[in-house]
Amino acid sequence: MAPVLSHTKLDLEKIRKDFPILSQKVNGKPLVYFDNGATSQKPQSVIDVIVKYYSEENSNIHRGVHTLSQKATEHYERAREIVKKHINASSAQEIIFTRGTTESVNLVAHSFADWINAGDEILVSLTEHHSNILPWQLLCEQRKAVLRTIPVNADGEVQTAEIDKYLSAKTKLIAITHVSNTTGIIVDVKKVIAAAHAKNIPVLLDGAQAIPHMAVDVSDLDCDFYCFSGHKVFGPTGIGVLYAKKHWIDKFAPYQAGGGTIKTVSFEKTEYAEGPLKFEAGTPNIEGAIGMAAALEYINVIGLDNISAYEHELLEYATHKLKKVEGVRIYGDVQNKAAVISFNVKEIHPFDIGTILDKQGIAVRTGHHCTQPLMQHFCIPGTIRVSFAFYNTKEEIDVFITALEKAVKMLS
Ligand code: ALA
Repeated sequence: MAPVLSHTKLDLEKIRKDFPILSQKVNGKPLVYFDNGATSQKPQSVIDVIVKYYSEENSNIHRGVHTLSQKATEHYERAREIVKKHINASSAQEIIFTRGTTESVNLVAHSFADWINAGDEILVSLTEHHSNILPWQLLCEQRKAVLRTIPVNADGEVQTAEIDKYLSAKTKLIAITHVSNTTGIIVDVKKVIAAAHAKNIPVLLDGAQAIPHMAVDVSDLDCDFYCFSGHKVFGPTGIGVLYAKKHWIDKFAPYQAGGGTIKTVSFEKTEYAEGPLKFEAGTPNIEGAIGMAAALEYINVIGLDNISAYEHELLEYATHKLKKVEGVRIYGDVQNKAAVISFNVKEIHPFDIGTILDKQGIAVRTGHHCTQPLMQHFCIPGTIRVSFAFYNTKEEIDVFITALEKAVKMLS
């Protein structure tokens, strides 16, 4: 197939070779992987660093004087430095390693429990992933507090212009997504943070879907908490990050207690560690942290501005082509978006289209995308979602469109 013109600075041929999984066939067809919102693929450098860790360095951290333990500790703490630099935190002491975004949100919700009283309010938006709803819903049920929602418009855009209407003396925290996992819409989080901070309300950002697509600067954003997962940013599963401003880290009690979280233990009084170690109970996911750091180093060589620009090209190309398919309705077809498209075709069930696409080697996500309130808002059970990464190509979009047209014909 003739290459489709692109203005990208990315060396796509080289990049695609860095991701071994992309060259395989699925159901006898070359894999077209458009499910990056669910999890991203891993470059060889990430795979290599994990294999090297287990082949040459495996040891427990912060616990041994021996050489391997010191090496593993050094690499784990270096990973924290790389994350700090990647999101421009003021200190690596503000980076807590967790199992992923979900655990990061739960950690903050759990830590706030003692400060929430009956009648207090927590604010989320209607477009949130369930992982940024349920921890707050549980907290509100436990403390007899109220979970309020900032609405979205017909396109699914969070109504940040009206944010002041939802803030009051009772508002204890705002938890909001940076980029919607379902529509890809980028939320004007700076506006939310400015309005919240004017009233001394802390803000947590769910950055799971932002971090693979754009440069994130937590100092510039001035958020109190930023959460993301390693596996969505080309790193391994089971590792994630909670960025928390230092004063919150100091204030929070340990989320889970255990080995690694302490300075001294006695039955009379235990003194806990300072900084992120206070929250990293038990032997952590050492290879996960190292692998995630390798992934961040990999994308930084390509450059997040180059990645964003190229993905925007993919987004525009795919949106344009999709709109030509009869009966397509895109949810969240607005300007300010990351490279994610949710759509339906006529009255066809998304699952049926997803199944036929899979037979053509094309991986998409179908369903409610863990955003049932947003689905209720759109009055639909689910969508087909394509979510791109910088290793995807316009040629793959052409293959997808042809397969989609075929599926629609079969199912109409
Ligand atoms: N949160 C992931 C998604 O949006 C699983 O697909």
